[in-house]
Amino acid sequence: MIWAVIPAAGSGRRFGGPTPKQYLQAAGKPLIEHALIALLSHPRIAGAMVALSADDERWPGWTELCGKPVLRCVGGGERADSVLAALRALPAQVGDRALVLVHDAARPNLRGDDIDRLIAAAESGADGAILGAPVRDTLKRAEAGRIARTEPRDGLWRAFTPQAFARGALTAALSDAAARGVIVTDEASAMERVGAKPLLVEGREDNLKVTTPADLVLAEFLLRAGRD
Ligand code: C5P
Repeated sequence: MIWAVIPAAGSGRRFGGPTPKQYLQAAGKPLIEHALIALLSHPRIAGAMVALSADDERWPGWTELCGKPVLRCVGGGERADSVLAALRALPAQVGDRALVLVHDAARPNLRGDDIDRLIAAAESGADGAILGAPVRDTLKRAEAGRIARTEPRDGLWRAFTPQAFARGALTAALSDAAARGVIVTDEASAMERVGAKPLLVEGREDNLKVTTPADLVLAEFLLRAGRD
């Protein structure tokens, strides 16, 4: 049984404006609804647990989408705290060895073929797998607004979501990071800390995370194009 975990408790400070970015509209729906539908329309995914902030007044109250359960819990101060809260709140029938796919609410343009390949990779080994893409731009190290040096980009990837891990292993890894005060910005880095070597699955570049107004314009375009 595979469940989706959606951290959606962020305030979206980097985007600006009063609306947390998971509730921004693109192609007629809030970003989080696109993300949930992308996950729940996949035949292998049985349900979704969404972490919301305690004062969220925008949550539309879904209890199911695509005929599958949508459950909610209260998230935490950092993304990793929200993911940990959601993992702990999953129904008991989702065992420790069950795969969970953690996906940002602000990534609306996830496609089924990426989910297929991610699940296949995660099921092929014990350490989990994530979607990502090789870095294509030249990378500069900045110091006081000037280029200090050019960093080699060979072997560097950008990490996307979903990220797929066994529920028990990911819960233990995130708990350990939290207990030691280490802030991890994705699930894989929590797993790496405890010695795992997750697989990298090259995903579609259009699975973008909406962080700026320009991202929202692009997401809208891609969502409309994907329907044609
Ligand atoms: O801010 P960032 O783009 O890294 O957020 C990625 C995802 O994590 C978003 O869906 C956001 O709502 C979520 N998040 C969360 N709890 C936080 C901070 C971010 O669930 N405390």
